[in-house]
Amino acid sequence: MKVESLDQLLQEELRDIYDAEKQLVKALPKMAKAASSEELREALNEHLEVTKGQVERLEQVFETLGTKAKSKSCAGMKGLIEEGEEIIGQDATDELKDAAIIGAAQRVEHYEIAAYGIVWTFAERLGNDEVAELLQETLTEEEEADERLTEISESLLDAVGVSEQAEEEDEGAVIGDEEEESIRAEQPKTRRSSGS
Ligand SMILES: [Fe+2]
Repeated sequence: MKVESLDQLLQEELRDIYDAEKQLVKALPKMAKAASSEELREALNEHLEVTKGQVERLEQVFETLGTKAKSKSCAGMKGLIEEGEEIIGQDATDELKDAAIIGAAQRVEHYEIAAYGIVWTFAERLGNDEVAELLQETLTEEEEADERLTEISESLLDAVGVSEQAEEEDEGAVIGDEEEESIRAEQPKTRRSSGS
């Protein structure tokens, strides 16, 4: 199909996101079940409910655009979920598996933040404030979910006693794998401002 207008491109992108959210509704319970930390499990289950709301919000967006809610298979989300399933299956201590589950969940959130940022921009360009507002609501929810995951990850890593020393001793020194991982864990969160 040839995409000939921004309006059409917006609809195509929305169909992709619609599919992505529906895939996530199926995947999140599995991730929650695999989590050992109660806090993480709760966060994932809560995000499941939020995600269901986001599916409905997208239906509202399609309705506002006067078009049928249709999905277009989202290969990006499929890949991210497959990676998440691999993580669930791997042999690791509870805490480290939880940290890996958070990593998988945050990849998903960042993917969604990018996707919603894009459609928000398109809606803005098209002067469709109603749609832009709806998309902004979801974008904010995704950013909140991402932040919460970062918080849980930090307290989990504190519990496994990951040293912050590596970060202090860094500056060009040759570092071992373990230290390198602890530095990564301490990296600041990447954040894009809410679509604007
Ligand atoms: Fe979402």
